[in-house]
Amino acid sequence: MTTTFPDGFLLGAATAAYQIEGAATEGGRGPSIWDTFSHTPGAVTGGDTGDVACDHYHRWESDVDMMVDLGLQAYRFSISWPRVQPTGSGDFNDEGIAFYQALVARLREKGIVPMATLYHWDLPQALEDEGGWLSRATVDAFVTYAVRMVEALGDDVVTWATFNEPWVSSFVGYGAGAHAPGHTDDVEGLTAAHHLLLAHSRAYRAIKAVRPELQVGIVNNSHTPRPFDPSNPADRAAAEHIDALANTMFHQPLVEGAYPAILKPNTAHLTDWSFVHEGDLAEMKDSVDWFGVNYYASHVVRHNPRKAAAVSEVATLADGHKAGGNSPWPGDEEIEFMTPPGRLTAMGWNIDPGALHAHLLKVHRETGRPIYVTENGGAWDDVLDADGRVRDADRVSYLHDHLGAVLAAIDEGADVRGYMAWSLMDNFEWAQGYAKRFGLVRVDYATQERRWKDSAYWYRATLARRAPLP
Ligand code: NOJ
Repeated sequence: MTTTFPDGFLLGAATAAYQIEGAATEGGRGPSIWDTFSHTPGAVTGGDTGDVACDHYHRWESDVDMMVDLGLQAYRFSISWPRVQPTGSGDFNDEGIAFYQALVARLREKGIVPMATLYHWDLPQALEDEGGWLSRATVDAFVTYAVRMVEALGDDVVTWATFNEPWVSSFVGYGAGAHAPGHTDDVEGLTAAHHLLLAHSRAYRAIKAVRPELQVGIVNNSHTPRPFDPSNPADRAAAEHIDALANTMFHQPLVEGAYPAILKPNTAHLTDWSFVHEGDLAEMKDSVDWFGVNYYASHVVRHNPRKAAAVSEVATLADGHKAGGNSPWPGDEEIEFMTPPGRLTAMGWNIDPGALHAHLLKVHRETGRPIYVTENGGAWDDVLDADGRVRDADRVSYLHDHLGAVLAAIDEGADVRGYMAWSLMDNFEWAQGYAKRFGLVRVDYATQERRWKDSAYWYRATLARRAPLP
């Protein structure tokens, strides 16, 4: 049994631009769909916005110092598209590009490997006004943006992700309406998903044409649905449907050039899939170097023909969706998400490291590509004690057990190359605003003070010994 991480395995932490940067109207940045959405009354808990967030745009240098103190070997961040190209097409903004150039140069200087994500949900609003991910013009715009970024940062950044969790961008943004741009249409969700995958493939080829040495992947969230009663074929079919929508449809086209066979018949009452044009799937085939796995919780589903309209499966999903609105699962009219067993995090998500282990082996088996765990972590109602400490023992135990699951998957042959804890620091948790804290480091939003939680000290010791500290 492997108990330490192999040489070259990267241990680090992750963030995303809209969640930490703030400076929403500074430095030439244009508005994104998340600026619009977060300023829409009722869209985000507490009316929170990313206007200031962790003020990382102004504090990036001391934030990098903090990463050095933590002993991070890698740092996964995302580029705000509207910061570098305010309208998503047309002129680039040199000031925005310079911000990321300085960041990656400093990370390199300090020996921290930067991993860049091109799109973590903050589409330039001007592109949304023209149809957003429902339009193929956005696909073309993304390719232009991607190439410009690798030209600007490709000397320092080797590992690139095109999209973070395209399932969320499409099915939660355009299907469920719980995220920007807030549409509630199943077919729009499927259309957006297809266009995101197409944009990935085209950007992959365009990047490889200019910088063949770069490693270009995509980051998916993992839903790991299990049938409530494995002996019941209807429950098994329900789990297969959710797996196809949540997981397989976001990797199979990029490896094999095909969508999971059950998807089309299962959604035939909604759409004829005419948004897939001839040649799209051939273009997608073999267009990915690695897969990112964001893992938080597992899911149990069953077939329920009497599923009440009130069943709020969204409460159990792994991305903070609020109950209500449309479902993010086209074709789920008779599929019910069951209340997960065991203790829950502050998000209401269960704690199931075994499902991470199984999912890593599944992605390995189904794709044959290298894998990075690009996010893993938990939110708890952290308490700042009178002595100034945050004794977040739940987070420590969560991280400990999930790192163990990664080691076990490596032991069984999964080609896992790195692990990024979510998140470096507390930040804007999308529809949940600042109410949910995922950080290793606590952020006091009134003063912007960063204070290490117990988990940060634990993680530093774990990184130093390259094995989960007991
Ligand atoms: C995945 C998303 O990529 C990230 O932005 C979010 O904060 C975490 N899930 C936690 O919900």
